Amino acid sequence: MQRLKNKVAIVTGAASGIGRSTAERFADEGATVFCVDLQVGGLDETVASLKAKGATAEAFVCDASNEADVKAAVAKCVSSFGRIDVLVNMAGILRFGHTHEMSLATFELVMKVNVNSTFLFCREALPELVKSKGNIINAASTSALQGLPYGAAYGASKAACLSLTRSIAVDYAKKGVRANCVAPGDVTTNIANNITFPEDGDFSMMPRISSLTGAKGPEVIAGVIAMLASEDGAHITGECVRIDGGTLA
Ligand SMILES: NC(=O)c1ccc[n+]([C@@H]2O[C@H](COP(=O)([O-])OP(=O)(O)OC[C@H]3O[C@@H](n4cnc5c(N)ncnc54)[C@H](O)[C@@H]3O)[C@@H](O)[C@H]2O)c1
Repeated sequence: MQRLKNKVAIVTGAASGIGRSTAERFADEGATVFCVDLQVGGLDETVASLKAKGATAEAFVCDASNEADVKAAVAKCVSSFGRIDVLVNMAGILRFGHTHEMSLATFELVMKVNVNSTFLFCREALPELVKSKGNIINAASTSALQGLPYGAAYGASKAACLSLTRSIAVDYAKKGVRANCVAPGDVTTNIANNITFPEDGDFSMMPRISSLTGAKGPEVIAGVIAMLASEDGAHITGECVRIDGGTLA
């Protein structure tokens, strides 16, 4: 399918996991992909793999939670490719721990990386998305929809991303811009591989974050993001699509 032919997409978190898989799927669907991440090596690998498919792609190394970096990233995408049709915010981090032991610095870091990055990229890209009648897909999580054991900061940040997305969907609907979230659960990536329950954690709560059908790779999320980004998602806005193999069923 070439549902994103002639479209220009920014994908953050593109050096690994769901962001990389989304960049690859977008390239397969005909998009030009502007790939953003902190990790230089992973980003270069992603862009090389897109170019090997014959796609047009560019890497931009930046901290997605830094205002100046985000302004520079969006400006570079526009100067390189002339437009933005799709914005995918996948950059994110996870920190586990008991709430009563969590430092304010850790809480603020999780909020900054997950929420500020999403806000800043939306804010900077929206004028271009209004011109192109484009759309946004942000990363929520099942933790935005139900309690995540030992994940209070992360859950709070993802609920904020969901709420931000819904407000943007309402504010910009009549300007032709759509905004949606995906809520992944139990997807095998670096974040998921680094889940560390507290030593005295209650492992009987693991089913709350475990798929009923087994963990899946990031491509199961990328396919849904591509649908939302394309004309197949033309009547979907303000939605949060749970993709978790039944974790919350
Ligand atoms: N894997 C899951 O089961 C799962 C579940 C729910 C939500 N999510 C969300 O999906 C998104 C993608 O995560 P993933 O699972 O692919 O994990 P991942 O760790 O493989 O990818 C996250 C990417 O974000 C990048 N990143 C982190 N901080 C950044 C910053 N300040 N600036 C720029 N880039 C930054 C990392 O370098 C990494 O490449 C995240 O927002 C995550 O919270 C994942």
